[in-house]
Parts: sequence; structure tokens; C-alpha cells
Amino acid sequence: MAMVVVLFFVSLFLLLLFALIKFATADGDFTLMSKRHVKRHEIEDKVVWITGASRGIGEVLAKQLANLGAKLIISARNETELERVKKQLTGKHAPDGVKILPLDLASGEDCLRDAVEKAESFIPNAGVDYMIHNAAFERPKTTALDVTEESLKVTFNVNVLGTITLTRLLAPYMLRRGKGCFVVMSSAAGKTPAPGQAIYSASKHALNGYFHTLRSELYQKGIGVTIVCPGPVETSTGTGAARSENKASSEKRVSSERCAELTIIAATHGLKEVWISYQPVLAVMYLVQYMPTIGYWLMDKIGGNRVEAAARKGNTYSISLLFGKRKAS
Ligand SMILES: NC(=O)c1ccc[n+]([C@@H]2O[C@H](COP(=O)([O-])OP(=O)(O)OC[C@H]3O[C@@H](n4cnc5c(N)ncnc54)[C@H](OP(=O)(O)O)[C@@H]3O)[C@@H](O)[C@H]2O)c1
Ligand SMILES: *[C@@H]1O[C@H](CO)[C@@H](O)[C@H](O)[C@H]1NC(C)=O
Repeated sequence: MAMVVVLFFVSLFLLLLFALIKFATADGDFTLMSKRHVKRHEIEDKVVWITGASRGIGEVLAKQLANLGAKLIISARNETELERVKKQLTGKHAPDGVKILPLDLASGEDCLRDAVEKAESFIPNAGVDYMIHNAAFERPKTTALDVTEESLKVTFNVNVLGTITLTRLLAPYMLRRGKGCFVVMSSAAGKTPAPGQAIYSASKHALNGYFHTLRSELYQKGIGVTIVCPGPVETSTGTGAARSENKASSEKRVSSERCAELTIIAATHGLKEVWISYQPVLAVMYLVQYMPTIGYWLMDKIGGNRVEAAARKGNTYSISLLFGKRKAS
């Protein structure tokens, strides 16, 4: 009898240890980690429209999707950059079959309607199967109070209003076919406080709210939504805020290749929300989601120090932010 009890506790201990090691070395949430491979048949010969494909994660997504045999439509503002990306793509329908659709998300409903009509008519007898909302605007970190009105407007026009309008215009086509999927590049900043990035965080929280609701309304009609929340990602081609901070600090970032791969795994398995990050960001996401009292307590300890770390271009994802100065002097 005693033997059984001992065995029980030993196996429980080993199981916990195993889970802990898995968690410490994971680069995504547990559900995502359990899906190991892309479902290729969900991508091959499907029409995939990606915004923000001119650099960064979007460019890498385009490469991987082209290799998987997707029929790609790539969008961003800069046509020259889109041409450059297109030339590099290889796959069953690339580079020749790849359509370039220059688009400014802040250009208003009429321009976006034109873009949707073009995207829907590019490929005969096929409409958009996957819309990947990847484009976004991010400013260098500042405190919530130092944000300019201009920055506030641009961020919301691009990240939120443009993205939602595009969705509203495209979804009716998908509904007529009874199928379609939106993949939304949100952020860890869309799940937790992001000291130094209040407006960006607000824009990503807005996307999460809109797209989880959209799915709840349209899921029974064949519309899927996958919301992807990455923590820090290394982008080699980015020119935005993330890029300038990459070099200066020692943050451990998931590669854009891995981020794109996990995004495609999530989308092809129909996962509703996934988190992509190394520790400690992943642990913070779990805390804020499942133990908010502790999660928010932790973020309140870190917040001020993180804004200061950003100002001197230091590591803004380090556990040591907890042990910095207690109060800003
Ligand atoms: N990198 C990270 O650490 C990280 C972490 C979490 C989440 N994310 C999210 O992942 C996505 C991609 O990030 P990234 O780092 O790869 O971004 P990035 O390198 O800054 O690229 C942004 C892309 O969006 C396009 N874009 C910007 N403004 C636009 C507009 N008004 N209309 C249309 N397209 C526009 C840009 O192309 P043009 O300039 O040619 O328009 C570019 O292709 C974003 O949604 C970002 O919020 C990134
Ligand atoms: C587009 O990209 C090209 C090449 O990188 C660059 O020279 C040009 O200034 C960009 N155009 C705009 C409008 O930003």
C-alpha cells in the first residue's frame, strides 16, 4: 500500500517537473505546442491575402505560404518593396501567380472597397480563403501621457479602423461562399498591459474584442478567426520601432520564421487564439489570463522600470525589471 502511495507521488512529481521544463522552454502556449505540423491541404491552392507583406513577419509569412502552394495576394503601401518580395517567392503558384495589391489601410472605405473587389476578382472562380491581417503601425515606446494626438490617430486608423473596415467589406463575399478565415496578428500587448506602448496595446486589445465577437457571430456560417498574439519577435527586414530596439538590447526574441510557422499551424488547425513567445513574456500572459490579481500586481511593479528601460534602449522584456527601482524618482 505504502509503495503505491510513494509511486503515485513520484510520478506526480515527475509529471510536474516535465510540465515545468516544457513550459520553461516553450515558444508558444500549450495548445499551440500540441499541434506539431502545418495542415498543408488547408493551404495548397487556397487564395491567401496578406497585408503588411512588404517586410518583417508578413514577408516571411508570404515566403512560407508560397512554398506551401498558396495563391498569394500581397499588400502593403510600398509597391517597390512588394515587387522585391514577389521576386523572391517560390512555390506551385509563385512567383508568377502572385498578385500585388498596393493598399493603405488608412485610405478610407472607398479605397478599401476597391481593394477588396480586386482581391476577389484576381483569381477566376475563387475568392479569398484566408485574409491575414498582419499590417500594423507601431511607434517607439513612450509613456501613456506623452502620446501625441497624431500618433494616436495613425495607430488607430491603421491597426483598428482600416483592419475592421477591410473585414466588413470582405466578409460578405466569404459568407456567400459559406467559408473563409481571418488570421489576425495581434500581440502579447493585446492580452496584457504593455508599459511604454499604451496606444499600441489599446489598438491590439480592440482587435481582439472585434475579432472574437465577429467569430462568435459568424462561426456557424463557416467563418473562422485565428487571433495570434506574439511577444517579442526578431525581424531582420523591419524598419519600424521593433527594429531599432532589436539591436540595442539583449531580448530573447522568437525568429520571424518560427513566428510565421506557428501562425500557419494555428490557422490551419483552426485555433481561436494562440500565444507565441519565450519566457518570461509567456508566463506573464498566463498569469494575467488565469490569475489576474497576481498578473496585474506584477505588471504594476514592472511598468515604471520598463518605460525607463525603453528610454535608454535596454531590455524591455527582462525579469530584472522586477528588481529595479521601486518608484520613479
Ligand atoms: N515584431 C514584433 O516584435 C511583433 C510582436 C508582436 C506583434 N507584432 C505584430 O505583427 C505584425 C507584423 O509586425 P512586423 O514587426 O513584421 O511589422 P513591420 O516590420 O513594422 O512591418 C509592418 C508592415 O505593415 C505595413 N503597413 C504599415 N502601415 C501600413 C498602412 N497604413 N497600410 C498598409 N500597410 C501598412 C508595412 O508596409 P508599408 O510600409 O509598405 O505600408 C509593413 O509591410 C504587426 O501586426 C505587429 O503589430 C509584431
Ligand atoms: C519604397 O521602398 C523603396 C525601396 O526600399 C524606397 O526607396 C522608397 O522610398 C519607398 N517608397 C515610399 C513611398 O516609402
